[in-house]
Amino acid sequence: MPERIFIGVAWPYVSGWPHLGHVAGVYLPADIFSRYHRLAGNEVLMVSGSDEHGTPITVRADQEGKTPKEIADRYHDVLLWCWEKLGISWDLYTRTGTDNHRQVAQDMFKRLLEQGYIFEDTTPHLYCETDKRFLPDRYVEGRCPNCGFDKARGDQCDNCGRPLDALDLGNPRCRLCGGEPVIRQSAHFFLALDKFSDRLREWVSEQHHWRPNVRNFTLGMIDEGLKPRPITRDITWGVPIPLPGYEDKRIYVWFEAVCGYLSASKEWAARKGEPDAWRQFWDADSGVKAYYFIGKDNIPFHTIIWPAMLMGYGGLALPFDVPANEYLNFKGQQFSRGRNWAVWLPDYLERHPPDPLRFVLCAEMPETQDNDFTWEKYQSRVNNELVATYGNFVHRVLTFARNNFEGKVPSPGELGPEEKELLSRCELAFEEVGKELEACRFRNALKAALSLAQRANGYLNVREPWEQIKSDRQAAATTIWTAVQVVSALRIIFWPTLPFSSEKLAEYLQEDPRPERWAPKTIEAGTPIGPVQPLFKKIDDALVEEENARIGTVSG
Ligand code: MF3
Ligand code: ZN
Repeated sequence: MPERIFIGVAWPYVSGWPHLGHVAGVYLPADIFSRYHRLAGNEVLMVSGSDEHGTPITVRADQEGKTPKEIADRYHDVLLWCWEKLGISWDLYTRTGTDNHRQVAQDMFKRLLEQGYIFEDTTPHLYCETDKRFLPDRYVEGRCPNCGFDKARGDQCDNCGRPLDALDLGNPRCRLCGGEPVIRQSAHFFLALDKFSDRLREWVSEQHHWRPNVRNFTLGMIDEGLKPRPITRDITWGVPIPLPGYEDKRIYVWFEAVCGYLSASKEWAARKGEPDAWRQFWDADSGVKAYYFIGKDNIPFHTIIWPAMLMGYGGLALPFDVPANEYLNFKGQQFSRGRNWAVWLPDYLERHPPDPLRFVLCAEMPETQDNDFTWEKYQSRVNNELVATYGNFVHRVLTFARNNFEGKVPSPGELGPEEKELLSRCELAFEEVGKELEACRFRNALKAALSLAQRANGYLNVREPWEQIKSDRQAAATTIWTAVQVVSALRIIFWPTLPFSSEKLAEYLQEDPRPERWAPKTIEAGTPIGPVQPLFKKIDDALVEEENARIGTVSG
């Protein structure tokens, strides 16, 4: 029975270029996961889109003297280009500025209001008398009430990760003028999170398959006590409140952005001409497993707020897993737009191939703790693993077949125990890698795939077909036929992680670009092997130096 797998991927703010931390933490694991599940024969829907609203975009627009819409358009296009180049295989990548998204978010708002989970209240807000405006949370900075960090933003503390209410900040400062804001009353809507405490606690406690940090962090927040959270703001950029009399206010970006998972699914269904098709990935009784790929700063929004909204709405499936990643840092410091401390994804993709990056970021994925990217690591992973273990094996086997067997896969003689052993290793590798991928352990999956390539290299070194061919052509043929079967297995096993090189390999082996299924595929004797290029290039020291010198010189 095929499973239904929904894959929601965090919606990036379109306020600037994405960097490698975003790729390693969110987009790459989601893509590997989706590619695997499609090959495994499951029904997959993977969606995301550009998060156009929110203060990151208005801050940037203010800085550049542009409208928020101009900023959103510019970076939405950049992101689309990046996903294409990096091979992120969305079923739909849309944006929160669509009419459809507005309708879905407003419908969620109205339903929760009707059900009594949203209520109105007049509450104090920070107002800057110099700038003559209410200050969105991100426009305020101060001391975190939870951990004491002095530069906490009004929406969230970067030090302890807690979402905040700007009014709770100690010593608040306006980030526009640096002055001290005053307090003014304003009418707003609140999501009654407190009403979901018990249901949330019960549900989260049962999620033993969640990563321990995600589950513990969430339970910790629930146990501290959930309070109603304001879900509207005194701003004019965002989704309007679907009630008369609130023209100067908008729905808070986080409330509507998480609705994007649902709105994108509906858009996907409408686009394929089956407007109800989204239901099979959303109905609570559809048996769907919904996965949300996010960074750790997004955890409470996906394990508390969005599930509470879904519970309140009724009938829709809760997350099955939220495999949030920790951070990937860069040379020991957090990636930072402000300090231009980053490897920017568009800059990388303009100049280098995607698969080596996918390989290194998968190997270094910050699954259980923060990790660090450096160009030296990139070089050593590419040269010592990707090229030395996988690329060289493939190249040795295919060029040998081309040069010694009239450019075709030779016919094997009888298979010996070593051949049988290696072929059964291939089958086992599918099982093992598949199991790791299903559990979102991407680093282990990659290790298991590489170890098959390593075994295969060992086999070649023991058999020495370049010696065999001098005295026993049939023996060499058996060796090469067997090795080609491993190449075929590796092409499929590496497809989720290294799709571009797998496509090249498919060309060499006269296969369709996309593998049919997650299982060994025999390449028949006599199959012509196309002209072969090395799959990957070694990274020389000059490139590392060049990239290190480039840090801080480009930005977007
Ligand atoms: N734009 C947010 C960020 O970059 C993520 C939003 S995720 C979603 O942190 F839940 F809103 F979709
Ligand atoms: Zn804090």
